[in-house]
Amino acid sequence: MSSSKIALITGITGQDGYYLSKLLLEKNYIVHGTVRRSSNINTDRIDPLIAEYSPKGMLILHYSDLLDSSSLSSLVNLIQPDEVYNLAAQSHVNVSFKNPIFTTQVGTLGALSLMEAIRYSEKRIKFYQASSSEMFGGKERIMLDENSPLIPKSPYAASKIFAHHMSQIYRDSYDLFFTNGILFNHESPYRGETFVTRKITKAIGRIQHGIQSKLTLGNLDASRDWGFAGDYVEGMYLMMQHETPEDWVLATGETHTVKEFLEIAFNSVNLNWEDYVESSEKYFRPNEVDYLLGDSSKARKKLNWEPKISFQELVKLMVDHDMKEAEREKVLIDNNLIKPTWENPI
Ligand code: NAP
Ligand code: GDD
Repeated sequence: MSSSKIALITGITGQDGYYLSKLLLEKNYIVHGTVRRSSNINTDRIDPLIAEYSPKGMLILHYSDLLDSSSLSSLVNLIQPDEVYNLAAQSHVNVSFKNPIFTTQVGTLGALSLMEAIRYSEKRIKFYQASSSEMFGGKERIMLDENSPLIPKSPYAASKIFAHHMSQIYRDSYDLFFTNGILFNHESPYRGETFVTRKITKAIGRIQHGIQSKLTLGNLDASRDWGFAGDYVEGMYLMMQHETPEDWVLATGETHTVKEFLEIAFNSVNLNWEDYVESSEKYFRPNEVDYLLGDSSKARKKLNWEPKISFQELVKLMVDHDMKEAEREKVLIDNNLIKPTWENPI
C-alpha cells in the first residue's frame, strides 16, 4: 500500500485554498492548512471539507500567519510535507494601495520566510508560489507568456514580483524544486465578494430578490482573461508533478471587459445591466491594469493542462449560485434575523 503524500497549503481559507485542498484530498493527500486567527472563525469555504476529512485525519488546520516566521518553520519541521503551496496573500489589488505595507510584508518577507523554512529542511520539499498576471501590468494589448516583461502597477504586483524572483533564485542557487504559477484571473462561486465578478453576480441575485436596487462599480472598460478556479488548481497540481520546477502561465486565451461580463450576467436573468449599474470614482484605482490576455501554450503542451469551463459557463455558474444565496438571504431578512447590507467599501 502506498502512503499518502503530505501537502501544506497556506491560505487554505481562500478561494483557491478551497479548490486545491478539495482536489488534493480527493487524490488521497493528507492536507495541512494554515488559518489566521480572527475574531470570527473564517473557515466557511472549507467547512464541508473539514466535516468530511478531519475526522479521518486527512485535513489538519494550524494557526499560523506568513508574518510569523517562527510558526512557519516549526510547521514545516512538524509536518514534513512533500509539497508546499503558498497561496496566502493580501490578494486585493485596490486594497494593496490602501494597505501597502501589510500587503508587501506578507507578499515579500512572508513568502521568503516560508522559502527559508523549506531551504533549511532536511527533506526535499516541493514549493509552489502563487504568482500573478498582475505582475505584467497589462498596458499593451498583447498576449502574455512566461517571458513577457514584468511591469508592476500596484504594491500587490510589486510584492508578487519579489516572491516570484526569489523563488527562481532559490531554485537556481540551491537546486530546489521551486515552481511559479503565473495565473491569470480565475473566479468561482467561492470568489471573494469584493472582486468584480463576484460583486456583480451577488448583486444580480440580490436585485432579483429585492434586497438591492443598484450596483456601483469602478472602471467598466478593464479587460481580463477570466477562467474557472477549479481548472486552475489542477494546473497548480500538475506543475508540482512535472519533472522539473519551472514558471508556468495558466490562462484561457480569451479576454473580456467588465462591461461584457455585466452584459452576459444580467442577460442570463433577463435584466439590462444599464438599468442597474453605475460607475463611481470611489472604485477606481490610482493606477489601472487595463488589459490582460494570457498565452498558456507551454502549460497546454508540457502539462497537458487546459481550462474546461468556458467564460459563458463561468458567468452562469456564478449567477446561478448567487441567485440561490440571495433567496436564502431574503428569508433571513424577512424574518428579521439579519439586516440587508450591500454597499461594498472597496
Ligand atoms: P483569497 O481568496 O484572497 O485568499 C487569500 C488567502 O490568504 C486567505 O486564506 C487569507 O486568509 C490568506 N492570508 C492573507 N493574509 C495572510 C497572512 N498574513 N498569513 C497567512 N495567510 C494569509 O485569494 P485566492 O483568489 O484564493 O488566491 C490565492 C493566491 O493566488 C493568492 O496569493 C493570490 O494573490 C494569487 N492569485 C490569485 C489569482 C486569482 O485570480 N484568484 C490570480 C493570480 C494569483 P483569510 O481567509 O484569513 O483572509
Ligand atoms: N474589485 C473591483 N471592484 N474591481 C472593479 C470594480 C469594482 O467595483 N469595478 C471595476 N473593476 C475592475 C478593476 O479596476 C479591475 O480592472 C478589474 O475590474 C478586475 O478587478 P478585480 O476583480 O479586483 O481583480 P484584479 O484583476 O484586480 O486582481 C485579481 O486578479 C489578479 C490576477 O490578474 C486578484 O485575484 C489578484 O489577486 C490576482 O493576482
